[in-house]
Amino acid sequence: MVASRSFLPLTLLPLLTAAYTFIDNPAVGGDDENGWTELPPVPGADLISDWPISGTDSTFVVYRSAGLDASAITRAVIVPGAKARDHWSYWITMKNILSYAAEADPSIDPNTISIMSPCFMAQVDQQAGAANSTNLYWSKTGWFSGTYNEGPNAKDQISSFDILDNLAAHYLDKSTYPNLEEIVFAGHSAAAQMFQRYAALRSPIDNDAQIHYIVANPGSFMWLASDRPAPNSSCDDVDRYKYGMNGGFPGYGTGTFNRLGRHGLVEQYLARNVHYAHGTADDGPGDTSCQAVTQGSTHLERGQNFVSLLQSLSTGMPSTQTIDWVEGVSHQNQEMYNSTQLRNRVCCITFFFLFLSLDLYQPTHLRL
Ligand SMILES: *[C@@H]1O[C@H](CO)[C@@H](O)[C@H](O)[C@H]1NC(C)=O
Ligand SMILES: *[C@@H]1O[C@H](CO)[C@@H](O)[C@H](O)[C@H]1NC(C)=O
Ligand SMILES: *[C@@H]1O[C@H](CO)[C@@H](O)[C@H](O)[C@H]1NC(C)=O
Repeated sequence: MVASRSFLPLTLLPLLTAAYTFIDNPAVGGDDENGWTELPPVPGADLISDWPISGTDSTFVVYRSAGLDASAITRAVIVPGAKARDHWSYWITMKNILSYAAEADPSIDPNTISIMSPCFMAQVDQQAGAANSTNLYWSKTGWFSGTYNEGPNAKDQISSFDILDNLAAHYLDKSTYPNLEEIVFAGHSAAAQMFQRYAALRSPIDNDAQIHYIVANPGSFMWLASDRPAPNSSCDDVDRYKYGMNGGFPGYGTGTFNRLGRHGLVEQYLARNVHYAHGTADDGPGDTSCQAVTQGSTHLERGQNFVSLLQSLSTGMPSTQTIDWVEGVSHQNQEMYNSTQLRNRVCCITFFFLFLSLDLYQPTHLRL
């Protein structure tokens, strides 16, 4: 009954002709293996390549929605690219979906939502041209598990999770964004891996209740329990980070782990607003390491097993966390983010409505 009337404005969509400006993905030279040759300009976004990060003279690069009145912004969506470090394309995808949603539902004001794509780059990107000599870079797979930067000055030890802290603090600064209500870290695939782990490890702040993490189609999880759905006794380090919690944490999380212990860290994680989403056709093997395979043999199976783990907790599924199954979608970020479920969670309906007020939210004009 509740489901039948949720988020109705968007069901009007087929009746509308698309008029919003759809931004095409630009062709970019290079590739993720050998490095990208540029970070392309993107209509509607500022490319900021000198974002200061404390603890280093180096800088970070972000795409951020251009031309918005900061005092009107109520929501920030922070959406990195995939393992391929195609961060610009994720900004574009999120922007297209927001434009579409705002056209379909006039109550959504796109000027209240700032989209940011943080550009976690690799050394090859500096060599190929996308990053200049002062821009921070990480190893090709390290950035999404929270490791320290590899350069320009590795001794600065800037975790990719420190960057996320910095970006959250940017939006939480009341003197710039007096009306900000929510930050959504939106992650698909590699970025979903990143946010599942970051949600556990980040240090508590007063604003934690305003921060949400979307974990869509991750290749693996930081498993909360020490046993596994598909155990393999000849596989080493199954329960070490990034696959588990029995040590091996990156520098960013080591202090927290030492202080809280496994139990405390799990408790901290379960209190955070994590929103899982899985495409029901996301059935490729993805990460084929034996550690990942003990969580399930495909992306979808790992997701199902993780949900079973949550549901089997003595406290039950945490009230701060949600699960969406996106029917028929595979490992496709645009289709995932543009599903009715994720579109609403990421950009368009406040979490207040989602969690507290389904019964108050009763559009009267249409039922499906
Ligand atoms: C999102 O989905 C709607 C409805 O299926 C479609 O009309 C629209 O073009 C999609 N937008 C994007 C950016 O994928
Ligand atoms: C790095 O590149 C950006 C343009 O991509 C430029 O704005 C910035 O000043 C550059 N920094 C240095 C030190 O060259
Ligand atoms: C178990 O782990 C070993 C060691 O990596 C690997 O060779 C083997 O294929 C794994 N077994 C399964 C069923 O994944």
